Amino acid sequence: MKVLVVGGGGREHAIVWKIAQSPKVEKIYCAPGNGGIAELAECVDIGATDIDAMVKFAKEKAVDLVMVAPDDPLVLGMVDAMEKEGISTFGPQANAAVIEGSKAFSKELMKKYNIPTAGYEVFTDSEAAIEYVKNGTFPTVIKADGLALGKGVIIAQNFKEAEEAICDMIDGGKFGKSGSRVVIEEFLTGPEVSVLAFTDGKTVKPMVSAQDHKRAYDNDEGLNTGGMGTFSPSRLYDDAKAKECMENIFLPTIKAMTEEGRPFKGVLYFGLMMTPNGVKVIEYNCRFGDPETQVVLPRLKTDLVEIMEAVIDERLDEIEIEWEDNAAVCVVMASGGYPVEYKKGYEIFGLDNVGDLTVFHAGTALKDGKIVTNGGRVLGVTAVGKDLDEAIKNAYDGVGKISFKDEFHRSDIGVKKYN
Ligand code: AMP
Ligand code: GLY
Repeated sequence: MKVLVVGGGGREHAIVWKIAQSPKVEKIYCAPGNGGIAELAECVDIGATDIDAMVKFAKEKAVDLVMVAPDDPLVLGMVDAMEKEGISTFGPQANAAVIEGSKAFSKELMKKYNIPTAGYEVFTDSEAAIEYVKNGTFPTVIKADGLALGKGVIIAQNFKEAEEAICDMIDGGKFGKSGSRVVIEEFLTGPEVSVLAFTDGKTVKPMVSAQDHKRAYDNDEGLNTGGMGTFSPSRLYDDAKAKECMENIFLPTIKAMTEEGRPFKGVLYFGLMMTPNGVKVIEYNCRFGDPETQVVLPRLKTDLVEIMEAVIDERLDEIEIEWEDNAAVCVVMASGGYPVEYKKGYEIFGLDNVGDLTVFHAGTALKDGKIVTNGGRVLGVTAVGKDLDEAIKNAYDGVGKISFKDEFHRSDIGVKKYN
């Protein structure tokens, strides 16, 4: 079969890499793809949110399965547009992707269906929002309602910071339409765990757990980034936590979406916080996480294409999903200056020399036959091992073999102060 993967980062590289292992697949297209993906798939120069061009391409090539990986085309309705043309597509329709596309929607859903999360209020008027925080406690959490490239969350330590964030979002247009409505949330504490789950709207099958490192530097210092590394499994997510989450969060969420007439089909990402009062939902994403996918898919034994087909056909209950009893670690090699300002176009050395490791490309390009840097997060060097210690060692062995100008990475991926 012919498969089209939409997207072009490290997550999409991991998805393409896994799909390429399926005996059912003879051709993979990826739009727009990147320098690493180009080794496994034919990259097509169509932007990930260009719905019309993407549908036209899928039709022209008679693609059998489309996998939409990033949030924005999902929220914009790419799955709906593909399905309208009779193209089999993996991912939620727009009316279900709203679970990520609007934080006000997801908070209201959780309140209505009693799913544990932080207390909150929604505002579209800055004066009312400011009045509300004036009477509240700090820190407090201010979130843009819509998609904001992972940057729409401000933890305000005092009234001044809260006021500034509210004005920037509602009146200053900082995140465009995404910030014209804000959610103000109770500040929760505890370690965070990500659990991605396959669901067809009826059955939910969680994947192995993962944790990511969001800050730029060791010991969780520096600015927030899109993720400097991940590991799987989380040491905190044991069977008791898995049971608690299944009963209180995963099943109720799937049921709630179906009851609302928005059955969710695809991958639902649960961003969870282990608070002193039990596990609570910090966020939902309507897709595979990045860079969580880079450590979750290498542990998946089952054919991903078979799982995607079962989700589309709503027979997820009929298949067995198997996982390796091991661990995986992904260390991100980034461009100096990320996440603020950085240069692109530096040649990357050592990529052919990494042995058993898998190097997922996040921001690279192929230029004159050479792989060069083309983003802030450049590579995700991923290794498996019998346990986390072995996977950490293997991943850093790989990092040591690769180089490019101004490269930086964290040296503590896989180790968390809460472990
Ligand atoms: P989000 O984009 O909603 O995942 O938020 C980004 C990050 O902000 C999360 O991963 C948390 O570290 C932090 N965060 C979000 N909501 C809260 C909250 N209610 N309390 C404490 N931290 C939060
Ligand atoms: N790793 C966070 C995300 O995928 O949104």
